[in-house]
Amino acid sequence: MKTSNRFNLPKEIILYGGTGQAKVVRPIIEYYGSKVVAVFDDTVGLSPPFDDIVLYTGFDSLLAWRKNRKEKEIGFCITIGNPHGDVRMKLHNRLEKLGLIPTTVVHPNAYLADNCEIGIGSQIMAGAIIMPEAKIGKQCIINTNASVDHECVLEYGCEVAPGATLCGEVHMKFNSWVCAGATVLPKITLGENSIVGAGSLVREDVPDNTTIVGVPAIRFLKR
Ligand SMILES: CC(C)(COP(=O)(O)OP(=O)(O)OC[C@H]1O[C@@H](n2cnc3c(N)ncnc32)[C@H](O)[C@@H]1OP(=O)(O)O)[C@@H](O)C(=O)NCCC(=O)NCCS
Repeated sequence: MKTSNRFNLPKEIILYGGTGQAKVVRPIIEYYGSKVVAVFDDTVGLSPPFDDIVLYTGFDSLLAWRKNRKEKEIGFCITIGNPHGDVRMKLHNRLEKLGLIPTTVVHPNAYLADNCEIGIGSQIMAGAIIMPEAKIGKQCIINTNASVDHECVLEYGCEVAPGATLCGEVHMKFNSWVCAGATVLPKITLGENSIVGAGSLVREDVPDNTTIVGVPAIRFLKR
């Protein structure tokens, strides 16, 4: 199926995370007729990603901003990439407790099979492909031109970076990250907080908290 706005974005949305991911998410939000009303980031001295939207620094600035805002229905999208999927999850829970609404952002040119599942708060970028019976968890990012094949299971906070390929039945555990252009062969399991380096080819399961690189990926990097 071609994507439509089946995820019902609120009219006003804030972004948490003020770098590149904010720049690619904003046009998707606007495509569906919603508006980015503020950007927040914890980094002091960060250059604002947009000329026309204020960048606020720190979570306290969000609390102050929220108090002064009359609108009840404000959505949020956490535009921070991996290896910080764990941070996305923590922020998701904090923002939801404040009464903000988590948004699931899907680019109109992504392909989603009818019976795939997309977790709340996830971001599916341009050219991404998600095949039948794939299950994408909460707060995952399937980046530009990445491909997630049939029956893959992604737990919370995972990212498949631009141009990376997951063959069928791959299992990504919490906060695992497949970097740009890497390929993961069928039925492989990637452990919690694991990283597959850019361009790598994974033929064997990757343990928790491990970075692996190479073609084939047999080199372990110290973390
Ligand atoms: C895997 C990765 C995260 C490791 O970063 P790191 O821990 O800082 O690693 P370093 O750059 O210190 O490299 C350590 C060694 O591993 C090698 N290496 C790093 N990444 C590699 C890769 N993808 N393939 C092959 N070798 C790699 C380096 O050449 C270096 O080798 P040396 O010790 O012989 O000099 C990073 O290299 C990478 O692949 N990043 C891609 C990020 C990405 O896809 N971003 C998308 C954003 S949308």
